[in-house]
Amino acid sequence: MSEQLLDLGTPAPKCDGPMLDLEIDGRRLQVPTGTSVMRAAALGGINIPKLCATDSLDAFGSCRMCLVEVEGRKGTPAACTTPVEAGMVVHTQSGQLDSLRKNVLELYVSDHPLDCADCPSDGDCELQELALEMGVERSRYGCDGRNHLDAEKDCSNPYFTFDPSMCIVCYRCVRACDDIQGSFALTVDGRGFASKITAGQKEPFMESECVSCGACVNACPTAALNENSVIELGLPENSSVTTCAYCGVGCSFEVETRGDEVVRMTPAKDGKANAGHACVKGRFAYGYARHSDRITRPMIRDTIDEPWREVGWEEAIAHAARRLREIQQRHGVDSIGGITSSRCTNEETFLVQKLVRAGFGNNNVDNCARVCHSPTGYGLKTTLGESAGTQAFDSVAKADVIMLIGCNPSDAHPVFASRLKQRLRQGAQLIVVDPRATELVNGPHVRAAHHLQLRPGGNVAVLNALAHVVIEEALEDADFILERCETPAYESWRGFVLGNENSPERLQDVTGVPPGELRAAARLYAGAANAAIYYGLGVTEHSQGSTAVMAIANLAMATGNLGREGVGVNPLRGQNNVQGSCDMGSFPHELPGYRHVSDPQVRGLFEAEWQVELQAEPGLRIPNMFDAAVSGAFMGLYCQGEDIAQSDPNTRHVQAALRSMECIIVQDLFLNETAKYAHVFLPGSTFLEKNGTFTNAERRISMVRKVMPPKSGKEDWQITVDLANAMGYPMSYSHPSEIMDEIARLTPTFRGVSYAKLERYGSIQWPCNDDAPAGTPTMHVDTFVRGKGYFAITGYVPTSERTTAEHPLLLTTGRILSQYNVGAQTRRTENTRWAGEDLLEIHPLDAGERGIASGDWVGISSRAGATVLRALVTERVQPGVLYTTFHFPLSGTNVVTTENSDWATNCPEYKVTAVEATRVRGPSEWQKQQAQFNRRQQALLDKARATAD
Ligand code: SF4
Ligand code: SF4
Ligand code: SF4
Ligand code: FES
Repeated sequence: MSEQLLDLGTPAPKCDGPMLDLEIDGRRLQVPTGTSVMRAAALGGINIPKLCATDSLDAFGSCRMCLVEVEGRKGTPAACTTPVEAGMVVHTQSGQLDSLRKNVLELYVSDHPLDCADCPSDGDCELQELALEMGVERSRYGCDGRNHLDAEKDCSNPYFTFDPSMCIVCYRCVRACDDIQGSFALTVDGRGFASKITAGQKEPFMESECVSCGACVNACPTAALNENSVIELGLPENSSVTTCAYCGVGCSFEVETRGDEVVRMTPAKDGKANAGHACVKGRFAYGYARHSDRITRPMIRDTIDEPWREVGWEEAIAHAARRLREIQQRHGVDSIGGITSSRCTNEETFLVQKLVRAGFGNNNVDNCARVCHSPTGYGLKTTLGESAGTQAFDSVAKADVIMLIGCNPSDAHPVFASRLKQRLRQGAQLIVVDPRATELVNGPHVRAAHHLQLRPGGNVAVLNALAHVVIEEALEDADFILERCETPAYESWRGFVLGNENSPERLQDVTGVPPGELRAAARLYAGAANAAIYYGLGVTEHSQGSTAVMAIANLAMATGNLGREGVGVNPLRGQNNVQGSCDMGSFPHELPGYRHVSDPQVRGLFEAEWQVELQAEPGLRIPNMFDAAVSGAFMGLYCQGEDIAQSDPNTRHVQAALRSMECIIVQDLFLNETAKYAHVFLPGSTFLEKNGTFTNAERRISMVRKVMPPKSGKEDWQITVDLANAMGYPMSYSHPSEIMDEIARLTPTFRGVSYAKLERYGSIQWPCNDDAPAGTPTMHVDTFVRGKGYFAITGYVPTSERTTAEHPLLLTTGRILSQYNVGAQTRRTENTRWAGEDLLEIHPLDAGERGIASGDWVGISSRAGATVLRALVTERVQPGVLYTTFHFPLSGTNVVTTENSDWATNCPEYKVTAVEATRVRGPSEWQKQQAQFNRRQQALLDKARATAD
């Protein structure tokens, strides 16, 4: 076992200090100042017994198992809470210590079930291990005294059980919840013998503030907190390291299996994105992989009104290839295209765009970033020169001021939120720019210094006003600007931003933010030694999404907050591999590595490797594909792992486009909303069934490892290879590593990446090439990727989506913790216990005016359409603003959102829709029709399955 994976008992010291010499059990050691005796001993290969200590948590000193003797000192101090001193001589073994430890252990054993053989954690329990090691089989105190053996179990959580009879009250769970997760959901109730771990206000876990991250379960040294899967299936037998397939944090996990069954997903202690932490989705919500809704055999049909027909792989692929070629013969080479999946691996995404460009012969390829972070690509490339975030997640630990704009990490990027909260508890200050009062504005033990509660659509105005204050009050970093940025562009931006129209006072009508609050926030950000910006879809999904991203970059450049740890501009990417799918060229205008298709030199490289001539003109973006489909010019689509019918705006237009196409090929796990319009269904594989890599929001490329065979018989990349070959464009790979080798040959930022290197390093942040063979944690260190930083003019242009007498409220959308994106995965897990529907948040004033109470059905209508959701009356939203999510298809959230989009990238304006809300009694017309359509499509699927069986 590597040193990193051994439990060293206490964490590494937080501050750098001189090395100290000491002696433990006759061994001379040298360790940094601040190291505990326990850690020093462990580093020297000496094991001191412990129960309450673990190196992911600060020492607590409650169990008294780790007593040692220190020469020249009286008594027997606890090794976990005693820091080393220069010249210290420590003894960890003696008759006295042995007797003291055994005595303590016997006391624990006297109040613990002695049926280890029947315990689900038999063989994975630190108490059992210690008892065996110390030869303690039973207790001299007997087990007949007062005890907790009949204490009632808490089985309320679907994923883990708390059995107090196994609890040794070591506080590890409480400390994990406080220090790692930051939820403060657990306490110790009572004193002495009566001490008992309780959730919330002595509630069941499910009713407390617990967010089911599993940190307490991880920390528990006994079976007191245990995964239900371990209780049901037994301890795992094998383990591999893989990467979470949910959000863009990209947590690293040990996936532990027994045969082909996943028993447990445990966050990898040495995972660089998550450092041993996880959230409820990655940790527990993997059951969808085995769900009976999985489609595992290819299916075809001629029209969507016919039943599906299950066929073999060969027939399905040949049919798909023939249909696509026929369409091209009839409608032209540009009449088909593909959508890559940001849930699939880099290698799979690369192959889909290669198939489109080289096999289809056009550039009609796009991905879900079109509807999320395409403005990030545009905005950061324009200003800084690279379409990606600037930092590693670790960097937040060095930030003094953190500005969150349009993001809610507690729900959407929970493991990053935990890291952020740790930093806030250490004293960093927080500015939240968001229309809603998210958890971080006023959460347990964290509070934002400033909440700029702007109106939806006001981002650019707020950012310009912040920059105005920076310049007006001479808070800029003049040296940084002079040395690192283009002077003429800066001068003209400076003139622009200083204009009175950008003052907080003049913009208050637009932003809704009190000028004094905004000025104070600007001073706080600009005055910090290190200030970092993290932003999300609340910035990008606007008609001025790209402008807002550039305004963020301007603000960071103006204050010198780029190019080192603790600062930067950090987009929190949504899907697990959306960064990767963008890197891999899933855009109609860019080849892998963000190089424009019109560049003949770049095209030449790909043409030489792929042995085909490539189009020099950008292809269709997703919304253009829909428009072209409706007008009859775009007739065939290969859609891998993306549910455009649910996730894209203006659902009725999307549905009309899908109905217009002659052949839609969906490659996915389930009959999702898009597949209901499909003519060919190619069953995809989950992240557990394939090899490859994902790239997270910090540009970190991490391995995905196969732990079970694909249920359909093929990994997704193999399906694309087969389709390419059937279409007459030859592809041949025997393993995804060969695809990565091709990516590295063709992409300068990936030139140094290989599977061998990933195995060696664990993960790598691109750029990784001759200049940075081990990758690049922080970008733009001495110079920007584009050379000098570019200040773009970011004039505020109000969205055309305004409130009117007919639509007096603004609807904005977002995510919740337990569900993920379109919910295809999380809706097929126990996560529905936390949220079984999308709710409409409405302020008490607006609700009162309309006679709406929590739980009522509310009709929301916009100029695009209408739907019905259940109300949640809350002050989290401001008056005039409604908020909902889009995790459940029948909610029809995107029936209401409009076709408005970002001026530069067409990213939809999900965050601003003018609506009216009224109390209603039943579903909308669209919901009724959709429910009927769903029943029909399910029946057609059931028929196919019944025929095949
Ligand atoms: S699961 Fe997470 S949030 Fe819940 S009690 Fe345990 S550590 Fe706290
Ligand atoms: S539940 Fe586990 S971690 Fe928590 S106090 Fe009990 S034994 Fe320790
Ligand atoms: S934070 Fe994101 S990557 Fe990490 S476990 Fe949760 S969903 Fe997975
Ligand atoms: S391990 Fe040191 S007191 Fe528990």
